[in-house]
Amino acid sequence: MTQTNVAAPESRFLSDIKTLRERARQHIEAGAVTDDYQADRGTVLRLLNEALATEMICVLRYRRHHFMAKGINADPIAEEFMVHATEEQQHADKIAARIVQLGGEPNFSPEGLSTRSHSEYVEAGGLVDMIKENLIAERIAIDSYLEMIRYIGERDPTTRRVLEDILAVEEEHADELSDMLHDQ
Ligand SMILES: [Fe+2]
Ligand SMILES: [Fe+2]
Repeated sequence: MTQTNVAAPESRFLSDIKTLRERARQHIEAGAVTDDYQADRGTVLRLLNEALATEMICVLRYRRHHFMAKGINADPIAEEFMVHATEEQQHADKIAARIVQLGGEPNFSPEGLSTRSHSEYVEAGGLVDMIKENLIAERIAIDSYLEMIRYIGERDPTTRRVLEDILAVEEEHADELSDMLHDQ
């Protein structure tokens, strides 16, 4: 069997090197977004900005709860709220970085932040209510990340991977909160 025969079936699925190189040279101002980007960029950017708002609201809610948690069992829970707040901030940063990679602008404006967010900023009275509100917010985040991942499908693997990594952490958060709730 000759070299050409071995290579032939695979090469049908790939653009030839010359075409790839030429396309990369065109529209270089588009940064990481190439002609092969298959998702609807406008929709992906809108969804990412909604996720960014959701994460920022979660940062604010967890920080509020960290400082307001009181009672006999409060200390370890207050600490956990701060750990979550820090992780939500990391999520926000990852999302903002991906928005910029896709040629968009991250919307950090406080104006309309809670409207753009999927989850809510609920102050909550006592420790149990705080845990419940955070669990509700995590479940909302899980649902919206699942929906976004399903929407993106195979069309934007990098965004999908960012969202999947975040989703895994939100599931851990929800799991921890539900354990806390059982201990109360
Ligand atoms: Fe998060
Ligand atoms: Fe979370």
